[in-house]
Amino acid sequence: LGMISAYEEMLEGGVLSPDPAQRMAAKALDGLSVDLVDFEDKKSGFGGLLRRKTPSPKGLYIWGDVGRGKTLLMDMFFEQVDIANKRRVHFHEFMDELHQNITLVRQNYSKNPRNNNSDFDPIALVVKPIIKSTSLLCFDEFHVNDITNAMLLGRLFEKMFAAGMVVVATSNVEPDSLYHNGLNRQLFLPFIDLLKNQTRVLHLKAKKDYRLNKLRSQPVFHFGDRKTTQKQIENHWHILTGGQKAGAGEISLLGRKIIVPQALMGCARFTYDDLCEKPLGARDYLALSHAFHTLVIENIPRFEGANSNAAKRFIILIDTLYDRGVKLVASFDVGIDQLSGDKNTELEFKRTVSRLQEMASKEYLARALSE
Ligand SMILES: Nc1ncnc2c1ncn2[C@@H]1O[C@H](COP(=O)(O)OP(=O)(O)OP(=O)(O)O)[C@@H](O)[C@H]1O
Ligand SMILES: [Mg+2]
Repeated sequence: LGMISAYEEMLEGGVLSPDPAQRMAAKALDGLSVDLVDFEDKKSGFGGLLRRKTPSPKGLYIWGDVGRGKTLLMDMFFEQVDIANKRRVHFHEFMDELHQNITLVRQNYSKNPRNNNSDFDPIALVVKPIIKSTSLLCFDEFHVNDITNAMLLGRLFEKMFAAGMVVVATSNVEPDSLYHNGLNRQLFLPFIDLLKNQTRVLHLKAKKDYRLNKLRSQPVFHFGDRKTTQKQIENHWHILTGGQKAGAGEISLLGRKIIVPQALMGCARFTYDDLCEKPLGARDYLALSHAFHTLVIENIPRFEGANSNAAKRFIILIDTLYDRGVKLVASFDVGIDQLSGDKNTELEFKRTVSRLQEMASKEYLARALSE
């Protein structure tokens, strides 16, 4: 179909409202998509001979304020770009996985007493399979806050770019502001140069925070009779997803899969039972909070004594969403201040209640997502 056609189609269908800045970004992504397919053809066509001669196309680094459509556009691009070895990942999840693999490689290495090679390079070992299996890597929410990642990124990206990998990223900050005020920042600066060399930096100055607009078009919380709240939620879901039909999805983490009954445009829709009456834990909720910017949760009950396990999950779930700044649209059987009927969890519920109240505020709904 092509990126531009996909974008036009969504405009015509009324799913998206027109925005000149978004159109420009879509064009840039369209160009990259064509270049990438070209590049892949050349690579396979001449047995890799041309590969060394033809440099890979520059990636794109799209940055800007919250709710401007960065993730939306990158996901459209990712869906339609016609190359086999592509991967789209949340930046935090990618780094997490990388650290785990580095630890594993180190452990294996030190198990063998004959291994005492001073050039042992765990990063190279961990990057190798990534390079082999990926020619396009799309990162959502690129950011650098801690020194470990700051020091790792240069070596990592050097190897990836040297192998001809193309990187597309979304971020809330421009490259020059990455790891701002970080410890030993001067050691990080070469990475910024590398990034700016290997990607085209695009500031997406879309008209408004579309997410906030959609969220604020209706109350985010509904209370009382489930038949009534179901209609209200349905209505809000329709607005959030531009009236498209949502299919089921899944997200996988470390060999597990979480079923998402309905997922579209960065929003996911669940019932309370889906999330809290099943054996899900903090890691699962964290993965959800990285995969979606808005969660819709229906039929949250009043928590009686027997519900205690589910209640604990619910508390963790709300904590996770709150810490990340994920937005919540929800229906409750009772008012928020009456949620806890359970003595065991009353104290913890105090925090949950206060967080829920904050999550309905305009300030929260406009807040950036965080790590
Ligand atoms: N042109 C548009 N018309 C209608 N809705 C839009 C438009 N652009 C974006 N949206 C809506 O805004 C929501 C937020 O967009 P998106 O998640 O892509 O923002 P973002 O720039 O990635 O924000 P963040 O910096 O917080 O990650 C989308 O799910 C979509 O519903
Ligand atoms: Mg985003």
